[in-house]
Amino acid sequence: MAENWKPDSWRAKPAKHLPTYPDEAVLSAVEAQLRTYPPLVFAGEARKLKADLAEVCEGRAFLLQGGDCAESFAEFSADNIRDTFRVLLQMSVALTYAAGSPVVKVGRIAGQFAKPRSSPTETIDGVTLPSYLGDNINGIEFDEVARVPDPNRLLRAYSQSASTLNLIRAFATGGYADLDYVHRWNLGFVADSPEGARYEQLANNITEALNFMRACGVDSESQPQLHTTDFYISHESLLLGYEQAMTRIDSTTGDWYDTSAHMLWIGDRTRQPDHGHVEFLRGVKNPLGMKCGPSLDPEELIRLTDILNPANEPGRLTLICRFGAENVEKHLPALIRVIEREGRKVVWSCDPMHGNTIKASSGYKTRPVDRVLAEVQSFMAVHRAEGTHAGGVHFEMTGQNVTECIGGAQAITETELGDRYHTHCDPRLNASQSLELAFLIAEGLKKERVEAQKLAASA
Ligand code: PEP
Ligand code: CO
Repeated sequence: MAENWKPDSWRAKPAKHLPTYPDEAVLSAVEAQLRTYPPLVFAGEARKLKADLAEVCEGRAFLLQGGDCAESFAEFSADNIRDTFRVLLQMSVALTYAAGSPVVKVGRIAGQFAKPRSSPTETIDGVTLPSYLGDNINGIEFDEVARVPDPNRLLRAYSQSASTLNLIRAFATGGYADLDYVHRWNLGFVADSPEGARYEQLANNITEALNFMRACGVDSESQPQLHTTDFYISHESLLLGYEQAMTRIDSTTGDWYDTSAHMLWIGDRTRQPDHGHVEFLRGVKNPLGMKCGPSLDPEELIRLTDILNPANEPGRLTLICRFGAENVEKHLPALIRVIEREGRKVVWSCDPMHGNTIKASSGYKTRPVDRVLAEVQSFMAVHRAEGTHAGGVHFEMTGQNVTECIGGAQAITETELGDRYHTHCDPRLNASQSLELAFLIAEGLKKERVEAQKLAASA
């Protein structure tokens, strides 16, 4: 067990981006209630994810982590959950088929509510109110009452997370994810897009391969893994009171697990080594992520890996890099080199979203798809040059046909942003833009494999 750690030891440390509740007694009562609620995930599943991520760490698999920037009470519906799940499945088969790489699928879902904000207040037409902090904290409506943090929202977020995860589990194991249905995942507006056509071709190839295998006696009856899939959930571990309430001792191992999700990550704004967020996460055994932005110094990175992964376990720590497309070459090589020099086991993942946010002239926050793709390409190129594995991608997406990111094969323009701009926080890739990203990553992974083969041949 981590030394001098308790589920509440973070409370003695400073911590940024935690809300101030008007009535601490109500908060304590809600947290006490949450402690009696069932865990959302089982520790054994978190261990399985850690083992899967260890494969990514060793260069034998790829991590696909994506979902909403902020889940909301308003967008909670079976269709939304299914569509997000479906796009992640489509991306995953594109990667597995085109790049020959097993894919570890992790949703930013079933608990991704709380948001760190760049400003504590928001001003509209001369009126200043506290910022919206996520549906589990306050309301998005621009009125004084809605913006007051309300602890009861935590109970609703727990319940929404439980229902979301329940449906995901049903899809993942109940037949929806069966490879025989690979064509049926290509629906709606995506099917009519250039990416959809490319996907359809790939699905045809998979069906042909499955028919061949069936003739050889291999099908989803003899090989149940063709019928189901592993799908994990994750969110930013921001609201520490909630995370503490969901942290339990696993009866099998005696270890502490945060049972609110399989994987938790620390945001770029809350990764101070001596602050509460790092303190809390160092003590739970779940696989962890840490966002790495331009301000992260290489020596500080080593200090953080010492704290978060003292046993240097592969799969425990994923470094999620988010520099902005034109800053990857400036920052990433130094971080890779220090990690290699010190022999640290990490998964390298690329978040091509958070360093590429701009304000359109219409006032909407948006992200140019070209820059999103450019950051991934640059991330993969740097890893090829350093001889390390570009292990994964972390991105914000939805299965809906939203118009939040400009450009891409659909060529969404700035003036079209208002058509279907539904996000509660940051702009997300829509389903077609997400597939575009998957095909690009598949190309990058193929190149990585060619380089590795060349190196092996010349050795
Ligand atoms: C996020 O992932 O939504 C986020 C706030 O990212 P970051 O911590 O990298 O800014
Ligand atoms: Co975001």
